[in-house]
Amino acid sequence: MGDRIVSSLQNLQNPDSVSYLSQKEAAEIDEILMGPLGFSVDQLMELAGLSVAASIAEVYKLSEYSRVLAICGPGNNGGDGLVAARHLHHFGYKPSICYPKRTPKSLYTGLVTQLESLSIPFLSVEDLPMDLSNDFDILVDAMFGFSFHGTPRPPFNELIQRLLCLHNHDQTCQKSPVIVSVDIPSGWHVEEGDIGGDGIKPDMLVSLTAPKLCAKKFCGPHHFLGGRFVPPSIVDKYKLHLPPYPGTSMCVRIGKPPSIDISALRENYISPEFREEDVEADPIDQFRIWFDDAVASNLREPNAMALSTAGKDGKLYICSLFSSRMVLLKGFDNEGFVWYTNYESRKAHELSVNPRASLLFYWDNLNRQVSPVEGPVQKVSDEESEKYFHSRPRGSQIGAIVSKQSTIVPGRHFLHQEYEELEAKFIDGSLIPKPKHWGGYRLKPEVFEFWQGQQSRLHDRLLYSLKEVDGRQVWKIDRLAP
Ligand SMILES: Cc1cc2nc3c(=O)[nH]c(=O)nc-3n(C[C@H](O)[C@H](O)[C@H](O)COP(=O)(O)O)c2cc1C
Repeated sequence: MGDRIVSSLQNLQNPDSVSYLSQKEAAEIDEILMGPLGFSVDQLMELAGLSVAASIAEVYKLSEYSRVLAICGPGNNGGDGLVAARHLHHFGYKPSICYPKRTPKSLYTGLVTQLESLSIPFLSVEDLPMDLSNDFDILVDAMFGFSFHGTPRPPFNELIQRLLCLHNHDQTCQKSPVIVSVDIPSGWHVEEGDIGGDGIKPDMLVSLTAPKLCAKKFCGPHHFLGGRFVPPSIVDKYKLHLPPYPGTSMCVRIGKPPSIDISALRENYISPEFREEDVEADPIDQFRIWFDDAVASNLREPNAMALSTAGKDGKLYICSLFSSRMVLLKGFDNEGFVWYTNYESRKAHELSVNPRASLLFYWDNLNRQVSPVEGPVQKVSDEESEKYFHSRPRGSQIGAIVSKQSTIVPGRHFLHQEYEELEAKFIDGSLIPKPKHWGGYRLKPEVFEFWQGQQSRLHDRLLYSLKEVDGRQVWKIDRLAP
């Protein structure tokens, strides 16, 4: 799995390793898909349009780019644009459509009905403002696809001109809408690209099925591939080399992401209000609510947490007194927060001289952080560690024996060799004994802080700390300035 991810990243970095199709090959592939492979044109159009919408949503954040104009031609490329507009509507964008030459086939009239039922406005060419830059943030160029030959005729030649005018606009440094071309930038030669050098220069190109030869000439910052339906028989026949799609995504980037100005990276958080009067009196109950939200939000490892420890002096390890690393939360209740590790690791040495630690959870897609979760730490009972150790996959059990965590090893082979030896030893399925140097820790929190991102940096911060009231320890809640 890890190797696959690394090789996919290498692919993404190198556009030369991707295959490009001639016009003839692209047409043949469509025929095979819709012939022997049993696809219908509606299906392919739906997946293509969804890929275009997914690519747009990946790069152009709704908070900055909500107003979309899809300019759709009469053929399949225009149909992809209509489908993309429908998905963009459902993603929260505000699409409008310019579809001047409607095709009277049920596939297209059906798409128009679907869009009209969503109250998506259709604008005629005459309705469009001469200068598109004030009214739209994204222009989807879905006029002509790979089967187009010759020179664009009215009204599309005029529409292409309007997209061209935006480059001049760009040069005056005013904010200009971005152009997203579907498969072929309209007006370009399908194989040669922008022959005269005076065609449109899209910011994003979404190649479908596989990039066409003209895409080699694309110089914009965002080249994506969509159409996640190519079966192995086509990959083999055309010797296609395409980047793997990540996870469940309908699109994948080709080529390096554009270099960015790190100082300009910022999100404007939008979250529901987080108020003292609405939170649980006990921070464990509040943590359970947030943890359940994190699980439900489909984060890959909602139980990943940063664990910070501190030694007594900096001599034991390379430099510092403090250290942090990620570990996985394996349980929490009123008794504390539990994780498992190696009892001879750096963190373990630090905990042995200073048995206190701080945990940090960050749930990116919820704009939430819980940190610090701070308090004294103790080893869990041997029975508890034993029980958890044997619940782990056998490979992880062997890995825990092999790894003398945080010590220097002569190389990768060293670990693998030992692993293979132990794997062979336990091949009969017999019990793998838990090594003494492996087990759990439990942190009993004395302080909790719940943080939720809000607009204009006016974030919510609620700090729970223990105070004594009438001889009893009770949780006190304070709001901290962000
Ligand atoms: C997401 C994630 C989860 C991890 N979970 C654990 C864990 O549960 N236990 C563990 O010992 N190491 C875990 N690690 C590895 C640690 O971050 C760290 O490399 C290792 O524990 C050695 O830390 P130390 O040398 O500071 O003691 C995880 C790493 C990542 C990125």
